[in-house]
Amino acid sequence: MIEYIDSIGFLSFPDMVGMLQSELKNRFEVDSSSSKIYGDLILQDSCKEILPYWSKCTLTKPFILHFDSIGEAARELKSIQRNWASYQFTQFRRSALIQEKLPYINLKVKKFPFTIPQSPIGIFTLLDSNTLIGSAQTSSFLPAGNLVLEEDHENPPSRAYLKLQEALCRFVSHFDVDFPDENSTCFDAGACPGGWTWVLRQLGSSVFAVDRAELVPALMNDSKVKFLKHDAFTLKPNELGRFDWIFSDVICYPIRLYEWVNLWLDSGLVKNMICTIKMQGEIDWNLVEKFAEIPNSLVVHLNYNKHELTWMHCEK
Ligand SMILES: C[S@@+](CC[C@H](N)C(=O)[O-])C[C@H]1O[C@@H](n2cnc3c(N)ncnc32)[C@H](O)[C@@H]1O
Repeated sequence: MIEYIDSIGFLSFPDMVGMLQSELKNRFEVDSSSSKIYGDLILQDSCKEILPYWSKCTLTKPFILHFDSIGEAARELKSIQRNWASYQFTQFRRSALIQEKLPYINLKVKKFPFTIPQSPIGIFTLLDSNTLIGSAQTSSFLPAGNLVLEEDHENPPSRAYLKLQEALCRFVSHFDVDFPDENSTCFDAGACPGGWTWVLRQLGSSVFAVDRAELVPALMNDSKVKFLKHDAFTLKPNELGRFDWIFSDVICYPIRLYEWVNLWLDSGLVKNMICTIKMQGEIDWNLVEKFAEIPNSLVVHLNYNKHELTWMHCEK
C-alpha cells in the first residue's frame, strides 16, 4: 500500500551531500536537524516545495511503499505511471530486478547532441528489502537526474568539453531551440586549452576564442577559429559586433561575470549565453539570485559541474 508522506526528498549529485545541506540551510533556511539521510538522498519533513541547485532530482510528492515481492513493487509503481528510474545506496540487486519488471526506459550513455525527452519520470529508492520511497513527480526529466554522455578520450583538448555538451543539451531542451550549427557565430571567453571551442567546432560553428593563453595547435590552425590573446572582459561589445552565442568558462569572481554578462545583454548584440559561475568559499546566494532573475534565464548545477553553477540565457 502506497502511503504519501509530508516530506520532500532531495537527491544530491554524487559526493555533494555537504553542498546540498549547506544550500538547504543557507539559501532556504531549512532546519536539517530533522532530516534523514539515505546515501545521497536527503528526506526533509514538513518542507515547502523548493528546488535546490545541488539536488539533481527532487522528490516533490514522496510516498513509502511496503511490499512483499519484487513483482508487487513493480506493479504498484506501474499503476501510478509508466516511467521510473532508481537511485540506490543499498539493495542494488533487488532494485535492478524491480527496474527490469517496469516498462523499458533508455538508461544508456547518451551521444551528444542529445535532446532530453520532456516526459515525466518517477524515482524510487529501496530503504530495505521490503520498503521503498518513491515519487512520481520529480524536478527532472532525466532518469534520477542523471545525464551521462559518451566520452571521447582522444580528440578533446580538455575534459571541460563534457560540461558544455551537457549545458547545451539542457539549454536546447529547456528553451526549445536548436543546437549551434554551421551558421552560428560563437564567442568563447576563457577558451584555453579549447574543450568548449572543440565542441562548437564539432557542431560546425565558427568561434572567436579569447584567453590569455593559446589553444591547442589543432584549434589554433583551424580556419574557423579566430584566437585573440586578451582579457575577455575588457573587450567592448560594440567593437566585437553581434554573436549568436557567447560562452564563458573564465575563472573569476561571480560579480565580475555578472557585470560582463549585463554589458552584453544591454548591448543587444547577443542571442544566447552559457556561463559558468565559479564559487569561491561561501556562496553569495543574493548574487546567484540576481543571475536567476535576469529575464529568460536559468541557473542549474550540471552533472559535469563541480563547485560551480551554470547560468544560461536565451533571447528568443
Ligand atoms: C577553466 S579554464 C577554461 C577551460 C576551457 N573552457 C576548455 O574547455 O578547455 C579557464 C580559463 O580562463 C582563462 N581566463 C582567466 N581570466 C581570464 C580573462 N579575464 N580573460 C580571458 N581568459 C581568462 C584562463 O587562462 C583559463 O584558461
